[in-house]
Amino acid sequence: MKRPARPGEFPDWEKLYREEEVESMPWFHIGLDPDLTEAIDALGMTGGTVLDIGTGPGTQAIALAELGYRVTATDLSDAAIKKAFLLARKKRLNIDFVLDDILKCSLDARFDLVLDRGCFHVLDPGSRAGYINTVHGLVSPGGYLMLKCFSVLETAMQGGPYRFSPEDIQRLFGKGFIVASVKETVFHGQLTPLPKALFCVMKKV
Ligand SMILES: C[S@@+](CC[C@H](N)C(=O)[O-])C[C@H]1O[C@@H](n2cnc3c(N)ncnc32)[C@H](O)[C@@H]1O
Repeated sequence: MKRPARPGEFPDWEKLYREEEVESMPWFHIGLDPDLTEAIDALGMTGGTVLDIGTGPGTQAIALAELGYRVTATDLSDAAIKKAFLLARKKRLNIDFVLDDILKCSLDARFDLVLDRGCFHVLDPGSRAGYINTVHGLVSPGGYLMLKCFSVLETAMQGGPYRFSPEDIQRLFGKGFIVASVKETVFHGQLTPLPKALFCVMKKV
């Protein structure tokens, strides 16, 4: 009998994006994630520079560019970047797509907003400190990190991303960021029911 997947067992991202249609991927969500819309509206953000880490299909990068943000979007999968680039080009959007592993980040820039929708929660726990240090360097002083990840309340699904509690977020990110809000929500995408998730807004101190 096949052993159920445990959190922390992830696909070969490059193979996945090369072989599958992005529309079928669990995290695929056309249009801006409703939690992101709510957060940027609450902060009164109307433009500026954004980095979308682990952009995958590029839907969030595209939705942000459509709102007038200057967007850089990265992923470690070349196939993902190519597919996202083609989608953005079809919409005549100018997004800077960069092949980049956030754990060996080559970007030399700072952003008003850094978005991570589903990348952090697939990283190996041993790489979290390095990730947080890197991301802290990528946010402009006074800028924001917005993070969406699975919640510890998601117990129905076998395997998949690592789960986090609001206390985990405070413990992990609280040194370099003010954790402004952690909202219990769902991960909008293609799964039924939608997995339970956290949406976190953090300000760089
Ligand atoms: C759950 S998907 C989310 C995709 C996208 N953010 C979205 O909301 O549709 C996670 C993404 O993170 C990317 N990823 C995984 N590890 C990464 C790393 N070390 N650096 C950059 N991207 C990574 C994967 O290729 C994948 O596209």
